[in-house]
Amino acid sequence: MKDGLEDVIACETKISRIELVNGKAILEYRGYDIRDLARKSSYEEVAYLLLYGELPKRYELQDFKIELAERRELPPQIIGLLTHLPPYTHPMVVLRTSTSYLGSLDRKIDVKTREENLEKARNLIAKFPTIIAYYHRIRTGKNVIPPTLELDHAANFLYMLSGEEPSRTAERALDMDLILHAEHELNASTFAARIAASTLADTYACIVAATGTLMGPLHGGAAQEVMKMLRKVASPRRAEEYVKKKIEKGEKIMGFGHRVYKGVIDPRAELLKRLAKKLSMEGVSRWFEVSEAIAKAAYKYKKLLPNVDFYSASVYANLGIPDDLFINIFAMGRIAGWTAHVIEQYENNRLIRPRAKYVGDKDKKYKPPTER
Ligand code: COA
Repeated sequence: MKDGLEDVIACETKISRIELVNGKAILEYRGYDIRDLARKSSYEEVAYLLLYGELPKRYELQDFKIELAERRELPPQIIGLLTHLPPYTHPMVVLRTSTSYLGSLDRKIDVKTREENLEKARNLIAKFPTIIAYYHRIRTGKNVIPPTLELDHAANFLYMLSGEEPSRTAERALDMDLILHAEHELNASTFAARIAASTLADTYACIVAATGTLMGPLHGGAAQEVMKMLRKVASPRRAEEYVKKKIEKGEKIMGFGHRVYKGVIDPRAELLKRLAKKLSMEGVSRWFEVSEAIAKAAYKYKKLLPNVDFYSASVYANLGIPDDLFINIFAMGRIAGWTAHVIEQYENNRLIRPRAKYVGDKDKKYKPPTER
């Protein structure tokens, strides 16, 4: 067996498919190509697709959107929590703490009927953006901006964050980004959620496990690290030297490489690159140009290809999102996939409990402390 469970099939799923065919990666949500969904769908429609298994009819989508919008506001206890957390707390720690707190407020926390599981999922999808935006406003000493029923999911988030209605381009960009982050088979955070679900832990516990796992720099934490790198490199002229030195020292370049997409481009990175380029033509082009120069050098020196987190960074920077909210935006998209997997696990469950190969000492004789 390879380390890190590489290539191990740990469960069956109907939620998404990743396959490498003739040097090209296929990524589908419930059978629909990610490229099609990114171009033609909306985050709400994709969340519905992931949770219910089918694309919604027009009236179903309308009802789903209304329900999400109506669930956006936070209970006063959560707003109290956000005001009491210190302003230096990382927004991902805030998100997982708030998720746990939401669980403590749910009188039906242990009810696991399909309808109740779906309700918890809709509730978390609706509230994640508000938690993130409210905390950001509070920690920067600003008044919170309550959600509006007038705007869709992505636009409402940008509105709650800045107080201004976003442009059509900004709204569409974030919407597409959320679609691209919504689901990705058995990535580490989704696996963590499924392991928790397999013990029949409650949905909030599963999502706390997922949120904590996403934060690591080898997973969703990479996007924030990419921005750090872009700021450090600062100019396309310095990219090659930076990458070369990193590779020589055997250090990782954030936003590159992938456990599954080996030697093929991550289809999400391709789409995000186009999006980042488009935004850079209308906003700050510097980050896209620096990104391009880093990508060129990473391929030249180690044949490394960008992953989903690489171009997300310049997309978010152009949308005016602060660096330390990048992972939260990932979570805001992925919550749909996480909850879909938790439900799938509950509905066809067997405890996930693998074995470890023991490689330590054996048969040692115990000696009391005085004889050691
Ligand atoms: N920078 C430099 N080298 C990298 C690299 C990166 N980002 N990603 C992989 N490599 C190199 C490894 O050093 C290794 O080289 P070697 O064969 O000379 O030792 C080779 O590519 C294979 O990498 P490996 O560590 O086996 O890949 P993995 O499947 O275990 O790891 C990641 C996958 C995602 C954890 C890894 O690519 C990584 O750490 N990337 C940076 C963090 C990141 O962007 N995470 C977001 C993932 S969506």
